[in-house]
Amino acid sequence: MTVNSWQIATKLKIWIQAAGQHLRQHLYDDLQVATKSNRNDLVTNMDKATEKLLVQEIRQAFPEAKIIGEEGFGDKVADLSGLVFFVDPIDGTMNFVKEKENFAIMIGAYLDGKGIVGVILDVVRQKIFWGGPEFGVYCNDIQIKPPKNIDLAAGLLGVSGPLLRQNKYHVADFVAQSSGARIIGSAGVEFTKVIQGIENGYISHLMTWDFAAGKIMAETLGLKVTNIDGDPLNMLSSEIVLIATERTHQQIMTITREHS
Ligand code: 2AM
Ligand code: CA
Repeated sequence: MTVNSWQIATKLKIWIQAAGQHLRQHLYDDLQVATKSNRNDLVTNMDKATEKLLVQEIRQAFPEAKIIGEEGFGDKVADLSGLVFFVDPIDGTMNFVKEKENFAIMIGAYLDGKGIVGVILDVVRQKIFWGGPEFGVYCNDIQIKPPKNIDLAAGLLGVSGPLLRQNKYHVADFVAQSSGARIIGSAGVEFTKVIQGIENGYISHLMTWDFAAGKIMAETLGLKVTNIDGDPLNMLSSEIVLIATERTHQQIMTITREHS
């Protein structure tokens, strides 16, 4: 299958911007909120409506594509052959419900398992991050330069609250050697911080739609994206995701090996 990555990026940006505008307009509406895997794993009527719309648009424009969507409007996907879209209609649903900021809409497009276009809209900041290996990474219309390859000790680490609280995978030990931890509660917003060099790493337990878009842009900018063992991410299962500058990644790997 041949695809035009630029055309895919253009369409995804238009659909995601429209969905983001709709979320901003309805930010303070009453929400129907339900829990999923645990009491802090939320879904709202807006997550569902947004995914339904994005899936419809993708299906219409790319009828041959497979879609993996967080809220179940996509397909049952068993392999990554062909064109596959990963859709997270609201990433950071807890923030969407409570904070009314720090949430994102994300879509990652893969061709035969290789990332071609990632798009993350930071909905309230109105910043759209988009890119891929063929054309680089942008924030709105400004190209993002590869972040400096800084050491663990020289920057902030984004972390998931539960991993830090339980010191899972020695996360508290990495944090102790960094400039400090930041807990934003949205994988998408965390990815935007790391690709801009605001944080030099991020670690969290994530589902595929949480990391699909960010992985493409991070790798395009020379950042390292692996699981906690340093292995490539499996795009069909949840993973402990570590994204960092090459040096920070190496230093975190050394700490995990020393402790195991
Ligand atoms: P979500 O809002 O799309 O579910 C902090 O909660 C970050 O981890 C968010 O990006 C959230 O994505 C993601 N996450 C992944 N699995 C989660 C779970 N089981 N419960 C809560 N958040 C989860
Ligand atoms: Ca979500």
